[in-house]
Amino acid sequence: MQYKIKKNSVIIYSSARREGNTSAHANSYAEQNDIRVICLDDYKIPPYCYSKNYKNDDFYTVFESLLDYEHWIFASPVYWYNTTVQMKSFIDRITDYMDDENLKPKLRALRTKEFSLLSNASSFEAPDAFVQMFKQTFGYLGMRFVNHSHKNTQSVA
Ligand SMILES: Cc1cc2nc3c(=O)[nH]c(=O)nc-3n(C[C@H](O)[C@H](O)[C@H](O)COP(=O)(O)O)c2cc1C
Repeated sequence: MQYKIKKNSVIIYSSARREGNTSAHANSYAEQNDIRVICLDDYKIPPYCYSKNYKNDDFYTVFESLLDYEHWIFASPVYWYNTTVQMKSFIDRITDYMDDENLKPKLRALRTKEFSLLSNASSFEAPDAFVQMFKQTFGYLGMRFVNHSHKNTQSVA
């Protein structure tokens, strides 16, 4: 990314492997810019459930700790034109804040925030479906898109 990054940024990372391509991308970006990486895979984020009957759930704590940052940088591999299961759970679970009037003010805090994307795939460019999923979702939530950095690998999925 060829722009000056905000100090108050955080990388929100997930991958099916700890020492893989997305990890390398996220960690090198974090070192260059001296920012923190949150690994979603370290937390329990059960899939969205209408009943809200979540057990052993870290989602609310993770989400609310991220509200301290102005710029969210999502780091994800492309898995079948989409993100990881854990990142998708994180995104789906934001719906919990839409379902509950008491939680809505925290969701509205996103409207002042920005987001970017770090992606890894075997293709030279990130598939449009993948990029649009992030852009449309976080745009809908009121966040401003800043930048996208993509790295490709030669391995074939
Ligand atoms: C389950 C799976 C699905 C994948 N789907 C795609 C895909 O749709 N398009 C693509 O270009 N690469 C795809 N790949 C390749 C990965 O995106 C690529 O190897 C990436 O660098 C992996 O990052 P990681 O080491 O963090 O897992 C896939 C890999 C896996 C394991």
